[in-house]
Amino acid sequence: MQNFEWSKLPFGYFKTDYNVRCFYRNGQWGEIEISSSETINIHMAATCLHYGQEAFEGMKAYRGKDGRVRLFRSEENAKRMQKSAEGIMMAKPPLDLFHKMVVKAVKLNDKYVPPHGTGASLYIRPLLIGTGVQVGVNPAKEYMLVIFVAPVGPYFKEGFNPVSIQIARDYDRAAPQGTGSIKVGGNYAGSLQPSERAKAEGFASVLFLDAKENKYIDEAGPANFFGIKGNKYITPESTSILPSITNKSIMQLAKDEGLEVEQRKVPVEELEEFEEVGACGTAAIITPIKKIVDRKTGKAYEFCKDGKAGPISTKLYKKLQAIQFGDEPDPHGWVSFVE
Ligand code: PLP
Ligand code: COI
Repeated sequence: MQNFEWSKLPFGYFKTDYNVRCFYRNGQWGEIEISSSETINIHMAATCLHYGQEAFEGMKAYRGKDGRVRLFRSEENAKRMQKSAEGIMMAKPPLDLFHKMVVKAVKLNDKYVPPHGTGASLYIRPLLIGTGVQVGVNPAKEYMLVIFVAPVGPYFKEGFNPVSIQIARDYDRAAPQGTGSIKVGGNYAGSLQPSERAKAEGFASVLFLDAKENKYIDEAGPANFFGIKGNKYITPESTSILPSITNKSIMQLAKDEGLEVEQRKVPVEELEEFEEVGACGTAAIITPIKKIVDRKTGKAYEFCKDGKAGPISTKLYKKLQAIQFGDEPDPHGWVSFVE
């Protein structure tokens, strides 16, 4: 991978050498298998294809200046995959199996972990699917966990430059008592129509409101939302958003910086009062937002008047990335090494 333009990588699929797989059959998980095939062979009546028994995770491996490869809070992803599995009645991968598979997938594809300083990282995608056969609506008896990786750049092509997003009141991402708080494919299927429309209308993403009252901010496409007001970092509390590991970490970093953190309902009108707003997630890292347009009313909320990310978002972004890439100490013990 010499002379490869790592810093120009988009966020997307990239063929690597290996993926790892493990099957759940007869009530137990089997041995970890290494594969170099990009395809999987499943029964046409597998529950993942019909009844949405599918959950995934998203995490990254980062190469430090010292050449060592780091994972960021990977145990949180393992626990969230267990919650997702539980939420749609799938077999739960044990935490140590998940960890072993992640480490194996990264190690086997070491040459695809981008060099330090390029801004790129290795995206890790664990996928859990029901492979057992059912025609009635029932959970499968067999499952497959597959983990593949891909070197990636920023999720939004703007990178750390501010993006515009659109409030879509005519679509809900997830119901308050539904599956919004777990990482299952169905949530993303429901987001495709409004997000494709938003892109066609010139926006990077959609800002979803709560499905019940259509009053409070839920999340920003595939990322959590936050706003800065004075000395406060404010982020929505909702039963229909994904508990973001990045957001949880930024909340801690904000506290470390002496900010007050509020996790509560955030009414749309409060956008008027924020000095900075942004989206955060593994793929999005911190993406500053310059403009939010309410598609229904035409009302626009503007930020980053000088075209740049605000000072607090910038500070939090730099701090988070410095810990992830090993450029600064890791005071909370979030980083582990792939060795
Ligand atoms: N919200 C949604 C809907 C997501 O898909 C993601 C991505 O995983 C996030 C938030 C951010 O979560 P995390 O920071 O754990 O990647
Ligand atoms: C992530 O941030 O890791 C995501 O999963 C976002 C998206 C690609 C679904």
